[in-house]
Amino acid sequence: MNIGIIGCGNISDTYFDSQQIFNNINIIGCSDILQGLADSKAEKYQIKSYSVEGLLKNKNIDIILNLTTPNVHKDIIIKSLKNGKHCFSEKPLATNFMDGLEIEETAKINNLQVGCAPDTFLGAAGQKARSLIENQEIGKVVLGTFNIMSHGMEDWHPNPEFFFKPGAGPVFDLGVYYLTQLINLNGPIRSVTASSSTVQQKRIISSKPRFGDKITVETPTTLMGILEFHNEAKIQFNCSWDIWKHSHTNMELYGLDGSMIIPDPNFFSGSILVSNKNNKWKDVNNDGMLLGIPNTTDNNGKKIANYRGIGLSDMINSILKNKKPRCSLDLSLHVLEVMESIITSSEKENKIYLKTKPQKPEILTESEISLLKI
Ligand SMILES: NC(=O)c1ccc[n+]([C@@H]2O[C@H](COP(=O)([O-])OP(=O)(O)OC[C@H]3O[C@@H](n4cnc5c(N)ncnc54)[C@H](O)[C@@H]3O)[C@@H](O)[C@H]2O)c1
Repeated sequence: MNIGIIGCGNISDTYFDSQQIFNNINIIGCSDILQGLADSKAEKYQIKSYSVEGLLKNKNIDIILNLTTPNVHKDIIIKSLKNGKHCFSEKPLATNFMDGLEIEETAKINNLQVGCAPDTFLGAAGQKARSLIENQEIGKVVLGTFNIMSHGMEDWHPNPEFFFKPGAGPVFDLGVYYLTQLINLNGPIRSVTASSSTVQQKRIISSKPRFGDKITVETPTTLMGILEFHNEAKIQFNCSWDIWKHSHTNMELYGLDGSMIIPDPNFFSGSILVSNKNNKWKDVNNDGMLLGIPNTTDNNGKKIANYRGIGLSDMINSILKNKKPRCSLDLSLHVLEVMESIITSSEKENKIYLKTKPQKPEILTESEISLLKI
């Protein structure tokens, strides 16, 4: 199947590079509202650039890869579907649940697939944690925590404005990885209760090229609360871009027979620590799994596994085999409803019960990965 990219910004190189990792990702064209940017990516990767409309109308393209900013995700997904193309979108699916429902309706009418990032839960750490939980290593999961705490995005991203607008903020931008991972591990969420804060109304950009520009903050930068799952687990969360330093772990689950510390779900691998009752932590390494083998280095020169693109690769495989993709519309619509409900609960100061209830995504086996990986 042939892929056309809309949105040639920061994350697009990762997807262009994923063609060297997965055997079914074939990008033949790209576009951006900034034609010059599309032209330069097209030249770099030796493909054709198009206008956005030109790409959407191109008969040789089967799947649109939507890498635009969150505020236009819905628009691009709907246009892709109305032009007879499947769409895989970067997260979040849309900036509000109503738009997500419109996407669902349009996908149904046109009998086309929509997939959505994040796909990191399909990595070695996410799949290993899932198998440990399903093998009852810590017994029934009853409680947990997750923490996303930093001081924001205005110090590194070249164009950080969108992080502080509706459809972003720490829950929509990063919480999305944690929520998706938790649904992979615990199943769907039943209700949310949250409280929020916007500590600074303006942010000053300290990255280039917009150094010194002011951003008006239009979405809360701190959200704290509780998720209740259909399996009865209760997870406390703290998502904040107002904290300079802390010493919490990313994610912990507590079961009737033990505890588990899960690495940052924004990454594909990392140590999982498991303890039985009161015993010492045992390090469950997952570096040897196919989507855990280090294949790149991070900004500090540390070797890491980065297999972004597995969700798209799995979706292509699923379309060809008439199966449901793991990064499915059901899953991303549920995550979107949870994220919106976190904001709404904090505004209305009440508990919100969710309407969506997807199944856990199917486990991704090593043998299935080996069929997709180069
Ligand atoms: N999965 C991940 O690890 C990951 C990492 C970073 C970003 N993201 C997500 O990817 C998306 C893009 O992030 P980014 O950092 O690349 O942002 P970016 O601002 O660098 O790039 C977005 C691009 O979309 C283009 N665009 C905006 N509106 C458009 C429109 N209507 N039509 C065509 N093009 C349009 C912009 O011109 C820009 O080039 C965001 O949704 C973000 O949340 C995901």
